[in-house]
Amino acid sequence: MTEPDIYLLGRSAREEERLRKQVDELAGEARWLLDQCQIQPGARALEVGCGPQGVLELLSERVGTSGSVVGLDSNESFVASARAHVAERRLTNVAVEHGDARATHLPRASFDVVFCRLVLVNVPRPEQIVAELVSLLRPGGVLASHEADYLSHGCDPPSPAWDRLFAIFQAYNRAKRIDMFVGRRTQRMLRDAGLVDLHVNPVIHVYPHGHHRRSIFLDFIENIRGALVAEGLAKEEELNELTQDLRRHLDDPDTLVVSHLFFQVWGRKPA
Ligand SMILES: C[S@@+](CC[C@H](N)C(=O)[O-])C[C@H]1O[C@@H](n2cnc3c(N)ncnc32)[C@H](O)[C@@H]1O
Repeated sequence: MTEPDIYLLGRSAREEERLRKQVDELAGEARWLLDQCQIQPGARALEVGCGPQGVLELLSERVGTSGSVVGLDSNESFVASARAHVAERRLTNVAVEHGDARATHLPRASFDVVFCRLVLVNVPRPEQIVAELVSLLRPGGVLASHEADYLSHGCDPPSPAWDRLFAIFQAYNRAKRIDMFVGRRTQRMLRDAGLVDLHVNPVIHVYPHGHHRRSIFLDFIENIRGALVAEGLAKEEELNELTQDLRRHLDDPDTLVVSHLFFQVWGRKPA
């Protein structure tokens, strides 16, 4: 039986808005990763955990009118938004389905390309999803992953508010059995699941003043604020104080904000 759905970041309208902006911000590196996969016209592609948009349009362009793309997400509201996006962009070769990445019920060994971005860092037991994705690839097909690792995420000068919020966030992740450092482990998971010809590309950014992702850590805290209080990890007043302090620090143009370390990993299922 599949375990209950535990997804870290919530499913609010604010989170949907954040994900839409993220699509544009990550478009360059997503194109690069998909180029490495050498997707052929006519291919059958899948994006798992596509959210309201994901890379469905980029996959659609690459597989062309003779190919097809499936987007899958466990959040019904994101699925509805992704369907609206597909209709608006007239992506006639894309279908969006509601489903669970851990047990998709999609046909085995039927996709030439499977893509998954920023899903594994937000769920427990990511190996379960990787095994499912590998089973969906046809022999010779390629799996591409873009995953985060909290190793580098931080600011300078250091901020006691960041450090305390990070400790609270880590405690929350630990309780949910979510691996905040899964990025570095993705290559190993793909290899253990049977993929070969594995490649790894690390990606890191700094977020200058005014950049939308400068406040991504605070956005995550806001997404789960209610749960942090409900689960006794922090008091409402403490969170108010810490988030105000951190916002002030991030508003200072002299504060440097360093992104997560992202791991782009791709590999092939043996023919
Ligand atoms: C951080 S968002 C990333 C969205 C998209 N991949 C992107 O990069 O723009 C993670 C997505 O994974 C989805 N998700 C989480 N757990 C899932 C599961 N078990 N099955 C399918 N989708 C899941 C969430 O609903 C959310 O849309």
